[in-house]
Amino acid sequence: MGTKITKAVIPAAGLGTRFLPATKAMPKEMLPVVDKPAIQYVVEEAVAAGLHDVLMVTGRNKNSLENHFDRVTELEALLEQKGDRERLAKVNASTDLADMHYVRQGDPLGLGHAVLRAKMHVGNEPFAVLLGDDIIDSRDPLLDKMLFEQESRNTSVVALLEVDPSQIHLYGAAAIEVTDDPDVVRITGLVEKPSAADAPSNLAIIGRYVLRPEVFEVLEHTKPGKGNEIQLTDALQEMAVTPETTGGVYGVIFRGRRYDTGDRVDYIKAIVQLAVDRDDLRDQLRPWLREFAATLD
Ligand code: G1P
Repeated sequence: MGTKITKAVIPAAGLGTRFLPATKAMPKEMLPVVDKPAIQYVVEEAVAAGLHDVLMVTGRNKNSLENHFDRVTELEALLEQKGDRERLAKVNASTDLADMHYVRQGDPLGLGHAVLRAKMHVGNEPFAVLLGDDIIDSRDPLLDKMLFEQESRNTSVVALLEVDPSQIHLYGAAAIEVTDDPDVVRITGLVEKPSAADAPSNLAIIGRYVLRPEVFEVLEHTKPGKGNEIQLTDALQEMAVTPETTGGVYGVIFRGRRYDTGDRVDYIKAIVQLAVDRDDLRDQLRPWLREFAATLD
């Protein structure tokens, strides 16, 4: 699945209020999921799909994000001196991962506004957007398929997940038409965070997008929507109904493992789910977890 897309945009300017006080002085993207900050999984996913040019849209208090993807010479020298190659490799992994760029969002006017801040860097080419709250299991690749569909259909593509109708109010929801490919749908409409009664389907947008650059022009005139924020979903709704000028929108239905780190309970679940599958942790963790679970009743 060769693709020419090389740029990923990662909005990371949110305040992380759901994790206070942990996020009082630290960005939520740096919260560890097992032993890596959540954001590193997302950058690794982009790179695994061939997107080596990563633009992070950050804000105040986000300096540790930049530091995490940069050299830390004192620590490297110390580990080198001790001959601790294993830890040195862990330190260097995030440094050497991608070609990192940063832009600040400035005013917190919503996800659509954050994506618009990438316009100068991205220019006139398709690009991916990855939201940090979603971690996609690296064993279940999604971006490759989205990049392939973007290129072959010359459209914009969002990732969709079937959710319980009671959960749809947390997501952008899609009205769809089926295609010949059971994993690909044509999107005929999108609504940001509808009530279950108003939702066009229970197909939710999860935080992966591959967008045509026309999205920037659309975002420039997108009015504040839900929560009085400029919503990416609203811009994509306009694109879905103007395929002649903006290329339209398709959805790739994801059926793999996804971990939500956006709220406290889901974050804890994500850590447990990822840790029990790790070679270096499973043997200690699994028997303990079984015993512990048995004590809960
Ligand atoms: C954002 C989008 C929403 C999407 C969700 C995926 O909402 O606005 O359409 O379904 O990400 O995680 P947020 O979770 O940032 O409120």
